[in-house]
Amino acid sequence: MKILVTRKIPSVAIDFLRQNGFEILINNKNRPLSRDELIRKSKDADGIVALLTDKFDKDVINKLTRCKVIANYAVGFNNIDIDYAKKKGIVVTNTPDVLTDSTADLTMTLVLSCARRVIEGHSMIIKRKFKGWQPELLLGMELKNKTFGIIGAGRIGNAVAQRAKAFGCSIIYFSDIANKKMENEITAKRVSLEKLLMNADIISVHLPLNSKTKYMLNAERLSLLKSSAILINTSRGEVIEEKALIKLLKENKIFAAGLDVFENEPNINPKLSALNNVVLLPHIGSATIEARNAMAMLAAKNIAAVLSGKKPLTPVN
Ligand code: DGY
Repeated sequence: MKILVTRKIPSVAIDFLRQNGFEILINNKNRPLSRDELIRKSKDADGIVALLTDKFDKDVINKLTRCKVIANYAVGFNNIDIDYAKKKGIVVTNTPDVLTDSTADLTMTLVLSCARRVIEGHSMIIKRKFKGWQPELLLGMELKNKTFGIIGAGRIGNAVAQRAKAFGCSIIYFSDIANKKMENEITAKRVSLEKLLMNADIISVHLPLNSKTKYMLNAERLSLLKSSAILINTSRGEVIEEKALIKLLKENKIFAAGLDVFENEPNINPKLSALNNVVLLPHIGSATIEARNAMAMLAAKNIAAVLSGKKPLTPVN
């Protein structure tokens, strides 16, 4: 059976699939497949290891003649029409858990970089503008005793809450349903989204992208943030109305934003890059060797399971 791997992924997974008798077709180009290439190459594949940059909408799914499984190499799966795939008898899987710690670590990296103005300090040195110690040079903020607001109480939201608690923050969270771990282990308090935005010193977004969450943080809601607030997003760019956020940052209506994800990746709004109260990263939340190897293995195991008639490990449809 033939597996299309739409971009080079860690070789452990390719070895595993080959050892299990699958024929592998890999896109070795240093770029995602174009829509036409994706259609052409996936047409007669029995299974596909896909990336979040591969859009499997109805049209593309309709062109799949043999596919039984699409294993998305990501925890998010907004790039795939999972309901339509299900109608067509295609199992879609994702890679939860294995990237939780990496993404939570990167979230805290952004929090601390914003709070302690790390990028401004770094560029001051590089531009030779550091003229010696000064009492008021790059004053930032401590995390201890701050209110940390988590939007979305899934695995990553929980892992970030644990880390923030260790820094001495008190945690509030917004979620449609109460989360036991958040409340019992982390002593986090569930509040409305508006209350969270008005009260948190640090806000971190951990939501999947779907029709309910797109622009959840729109101009009106963003205007509730404190002028001292730090906003972090490591989930999906489209959850925040980017134009409205840029306006707030430009007018110094919040302290800073740390963003690993953007509305139109990889085309970053130049107005964002022109700001100095932002920390911008190229969607690297899960980019650790540990997480990427484990994501690749999980995707490969999902493919092998479905194509040998077993239950997938982490299905999403
Ligand atoms: C995901 O998994 O959804 C991330 O965005 C990439 O690892």
